[in-house]
Parts: sequence; structure tokens; C-alpha cells
Amino acid sequence: MILGIETSCDETAAALVTEDGDVRASVVASQADLHARYGGVVPEVASRRHLELVSAVVGEALGRAGETLDAVGRVAVTQGPGLVGALLVGVSAAKALAWARRLPLVPVDHLEGHVASLYLDGGVLEPPLLCLLASGGHTLLLRVDEHGRSEVLGSTLDDAAGEAFDKGARLLGLGYPGGAAIDRLARQGDATAFSFPVARVPGLDFSFSGLKTALRYAVAELSEPELERRRADLAASYQHAIVRALAGRVSDAVRETELDRVAVVGGVAANSALRTALPDAAFAPLDYCTDNAAMIASAARFAPALSYPDYLGLDVYASRR
Ligand code: KG4
Ligand code: ZN
Repeated sequence: MILGIETSCDETAAALVTEDGDVRASVVASQADLHARYGGVVPEVASRRHLELVSAVVGEALGRAGETLDAVGRVAVTQGPGLVGALLVGVSAAKALAWARRLPLVPVDHLEGHVASLYLDGGVLEPPLLCLLASGGHTLLLRVDEHGRSEVLGSTLDDAAGEAFDKGARLLGLGYPGGAAIDRLARQGDATAFSFPVARVPGLDFSFSGLKTALRYAVAELSEPELERRRADLAASYQHAIVRALAGRVSDAVRETELDRVAVVGGVAANSALRTALPDAAFAPLDYCTDNAAMIASAARFAPALSYPDYLGLDVYASRR
């Protein structure tokens, strides 16, 4: 079995996945409550919390699967991109576990991990495919030619889609992280009540920063009671603009690449309006949209392993380049 460990942001996660991609246990300890009062992830606070949680989360994953470390053949860990201090905790834990048992270690790219969430538990879609990866840190259109190999066709020039959701939620007083809160509130609102602009940028790239500014102005124009009354309309209209931008780019990419199989992964793939807007696309299972370690173990099935002791000097990376 593969033991996966993920600590790139504010989720401490461990999972046990078989070589066939069946998830035997997936444990995610979210630190969201810890960071909520700051309105976003505080990197140093995240690192310290990962350190407190990582061993317990690995133990919990083994316990839930009814296994011991004897069943683990490889250790997979997120190497980047992400918060450096947070990543270092996971990589150090993975090195220690692998070293103690002389197991191979597989460094995994977090974004390849999100793509590999498609191949878990029987799988929802196989390559070649066009993949929209929309999370709190990234918004990418990828051409996935085979397992573990993808090419970036477009990416965001400023904010990520999840970041746009989170910043919008903050402006609407919905707390952090706000994607799911906007999703819920938008169900009671009118998506056509406000018209928010979606920047048209060349190629297959995205831009979301103007949208957030438009929402800020719309909120500023309303009195407190009016804002209270129209909060759901604002959430629905704002969500609609993000969803339209994402879905529009997917159709552009389908036309350009002639790839007709489309998959959506990452935290924003949990969004119900996006799921409705792309009825023909395959979505990652809800449990594996937001950060988790099962997707990291899944990606490790298609990535090269480092043998002992080659990985002891392995470093992390904050961004892909
Ligand atoms: O993939 P993820 O867990 O972390 C990163 O790798 O960044 O994505 C987290 C992002 C957050 O911005 C969160 O607000 C957003 O996914 N998100 C959603 C929903 N659930 C999570 N956005 C829109 N609708 C949702 N239902
Ligand atoms: Zn992620």
C-alpha cells in the first residue's frame, strides 16, 4: 500500500491507497478554524499545527484501514507547490517514516495530485483529457496526455478562482474559507440581480481580480440593511460570474484542443453551480476535491520513487518555477 502525506497549506492529511487506487483510509485534519479569525492562512501557525498533527493523522489513517506500517510499501508526500514551512513538516515526516523502514519515497507535485484525484476508487475519467484545476492557490487548464503527464494550456494572471471565492466571501461577511459558504447562500439568491464583469484575457488564461473589485464597489453602495437583504443575490451573482468565466474557458479549450473529455478537480470543483454549468464534464468525487492525501498517494502510482537513502536530501518548492 502507499501511505500519502499532504501538508502544503492548512490541511494535515494522510491516506492509505492500494496500488490499484482504492482508498483504504483518508484522514483530513482541517486547520480552517484556527486561521478563520485571521481571515486567511497564517503560514507559521500552519507549520506549527502540522507538526502537532502529522503523526496523529498518520496513525489515524493506519487505524481506520486496520493496518500497521508493515503494510506500507512506499511513502508519498507533497513536495510543492505550497507554503514552504508547511511542506517541510510533511516531507520531514515522510523521510523519517521511509528511512526507519528503508522504504522508497515518492515526491509528488500537489497539482499532479489534484489531477490524480480522478483516478481513485475505480476512477471517474482516464487520459487523454482536458482538466480544469481550480483551487484556492491555482487555476489551470491542463492537457493531460497520460497518467502523471500534463501540459499547462492556460492559468490565472492574478487571483485563483478559489481565492476569488474566499475574497468575495470576506467582503460579504461570510468568513474564511468562503467558497462553500457562497455556494450555500447563492442557492437562495438571484444570479442575474447584479451584473459583474468577467475580464476577457487573451489565450486560455484567466483573470479574477477585477471581479473582486466590482463586488467591493457593489457592497459599498448598499446600506447595512440593504446589504443584509441582498446578500444572497450578491453571492449568487458573484458566483455566477466566476462560474461563467471558468465554463467559458473550458469551452474555448475544448474547441482549440479538440479534446472532448473534460474533468474538473480542486476545491472549486465542489461548487454546485459549476457542476450544473458543465453537465458533460467529469468531476472529482466531493471527498477528493479539497486538499487530501489520497490524491497524493494516487499520483505516486504514476511518479518515480526515490530509493533509500537518495531522498534524505530532498527539498520542497514554493512554486513550480
Ligand atoms: O484544493 P483546495 O482545498 O486547496 C488548494 O490547493 O488551494 O481548494 C480550496 C479552495 C478554497 O478557496 C475554497 O473556498 C474553495 O476551494 N472551495 C469552494 C467550494 N468548496 C471549497 N469554492 C466554491 N464552491 C465550493 N463549494
Ligand atoms: Zn490543493
